[in-house]
Amino acid sequence: TRHVIFDTDPGVDDATALLFLLADPQIDLLGVTSVWGNAHIETTTRNALFLKDRFGFAAPVTQGAAGPITGAEPEIDPSIHGGNGLGDIELPGGIAARPDPRPAHRFIIDTVRARPGEVTILAVGPLTNLALALREDPDFAPLVKDVVIMGGAFGFNGHLGNVTPAAEANIWNDPEAADAVFAADWPLVAIGLDATMETIMPTRYLADLRDEAGAIGEFVWDITRAYAGFYHKVMGVDGIFAHDSLAAAYLTAPELVSTRSGAIRVVLEGFARGQTIQRPDSRSFGTDGWEGRRSHTIATDVDAEAFLEFYRQRM
Ligand code: BDR
Ligand code: CA
Repeated sequence: TRHVIFDTDPGVDDATALLFLLADPQIDLLGVTSVWGNAHIETTTRNALFLKDRFGFAAPVTQGAAGPITGAEPEIDPSIHGGNGLGDIELPGGIAARPDPRPAHRFIIDTVRARPGEVTILAVGPLTNLALALREDPDFAPLVKDVVIMGGAFGFNGHLGNVTPAAEANIWNDPEAADAVFAADWPLVAIGLDATMETIMPTRYLADLRDEAGAIGEFVWDITRAYAGFYHKVMGVDGIFAHDSLAAAYLTAPELVSTRSGAIRVVLEGFARGQTIQRPDSRSFGTDGWEGRRSHTIATDVDAEAFLEFYRQRM
């Protein structure tokens, strides 16, 4: 069993990942922490609370950061996940669930300190909450069992960026936070575009889920309509990228991806701002700024067929 804090900006693929976590018997969900990203923080928090109401999970929802750690204004593009973050489906007015009163980064620290060595943090939005936790409690990182993120792009399978030619969205949204998270002393796995853009749920597959997976299948179908329409229009893709769900699946099926290990840094300046670079452990070059960075794992490839089958079975 994995004890998991899910840090998320729901978000269409965030919501599909959360439903998958709830369906995975090996996952013990300790909390859902919201972060800005696919929508404003009020919206992503509302969506997490809505999902708690609608699908009835026990874990608390805690509100996180409203923008990047630098204090810059958040830039939010409603064209992918919709203005309401869930593909502009109709949402109920009244939501009964209430958030935990602590800020998300405090909740993360408290939960980890209560169970040293046991907690996995699955982070699939901008890494602001994790960086705030590191800033507030610099000694807590080694107490975390491991961190798995959806984020970054390292050039495998030809993938580098989805917001700019160099940067993936979660890193682009808060590069300073991401770099602090990569610099910290915890074992981290980055599931980036190299694997997630190879992991597409086609329309036919989503229709089968709709017809065979009850309320969760219908919900996934509904929220993915606008998202699929967007990527069909701009990239000619049939279906949706399962970015965050692949990171969620990694928790209990790590064999789905191939990996490489090495220290990771984020480009903070210039036109490649937000680019992630890994120095493979097999190479010793690069001294300027790489010193003292521990090795992390990145996904370099994925068995997409096996992932789709795993996701379908769980749902
Ligand atoms: C990531 O950015 C967000 O839009 C998605 O939810 C995913 O976490 C993909 O780059
Ligand atoms: Ca996300």
